[in-house]
Amino acid sequence: MPGRKRHVLLLTGLVLGLVATSAQAGDKKKPELISGAGAQMLAAQCDGCHGPNGSSGGPAIPSIGGNNPEYLVEQMKGFASGEIPSTIMGRIAKGYTEDEVKRLAAHYGKQKWTPAKQKVDAAAAKEGAKLHEKYCEKCHEEGGRKADEDVAILAGQWLPYLHFTMTDFVSGKREMTKKMKKKVKKLLKSKGEKGLNAVLEYYASQQ
Ligand code: HEC
Ligand code: HEC
Repeated sequence: MPGRKRHVLLLTGLVLGLVATSAQAGDKKKPELISGAGAQMLAAQCDGCHGPNGSSGGPAIPSIGGNNPEYLVEQMKGFASGEIPSTIMGRIAKGYTEDEVKRLAAHYGKQKWTPAKQKVDAAAAKEGAKLHEKYCEKCHEEGGRKADEDVAILAGQWLPYLHFTMTDFVSGKREMTKKMKKKVKKLLKSKGEKGLNAVLEYYASQQ
């Protein structure tokens, strides 16, 4: 049986190889059509972790489908250069060419954002909505629902992921823009960590 399994694997490899070659050959003739199919194939590797169409089923992995393509490209660059700290994305991002990253970003930009189904603290979320308005709305518009060129959608993102990222920001491991840093500091000063966590509960509550 192990021999047979290997055979099947080899065959799958060959078929994939063939598809890839024919896609490359076709690239010159019909760039739009083929690059669409190529992006789908590339994205299959990402979906393994980020979920179907980039809507994550696991709380530690962020959803990415539906974000602005320019944001996605910038994140991939940041991961690859090490500017954005990561557990795994640094290694992954280094494995893709600029063109592949652009195609992946276009692919995920076209997907629908799916808010994560998760438990939230309703009272904290209510308080968080007010704090968001005061400290965060200027850049994370529409209650964090807007997919902007320089920011990700926060509304409906997984809470544990939001906690990890905020911890990295506050500890200085991941750099905040000057203006965000100023607002986060102000919020921490007046409402403490509880206030900051309440904002994250507010994002997670939008389902
Ligand atoms: C092995 C699992 C895994 C795979 C495969 C993977 N990712 Fe990730 N991704 C993560 C994790 C975990 C994070 C959070 C950052 C970190 O710790 O690395 C993340 C973060 C991201 C982010 C940042 C999201 C945000 O809100 O800022 C983007 C964009 C991203 N990944 C894109 C991709 C793309 C594109 C691919 C495929 C080329 C991919 N990922 C493959 C696990 C994975
Ligand atoms: C002046 C603009 C600005 C303000 C104000 C601001 N942010 Fe941000 N925020 C950004 C930018 C830009 C990024 C993307 C940084 C990057 O690419 O590394 C970001 C990223 C984030 C992320 C990471 C998202 C992800 O998917 O990785 C979180 C979480 C976040 N902000 C929360 C907040 C909260 C909470 C507040 C209010 C206390 C806030 N921000 C205020 C500009 C801002």
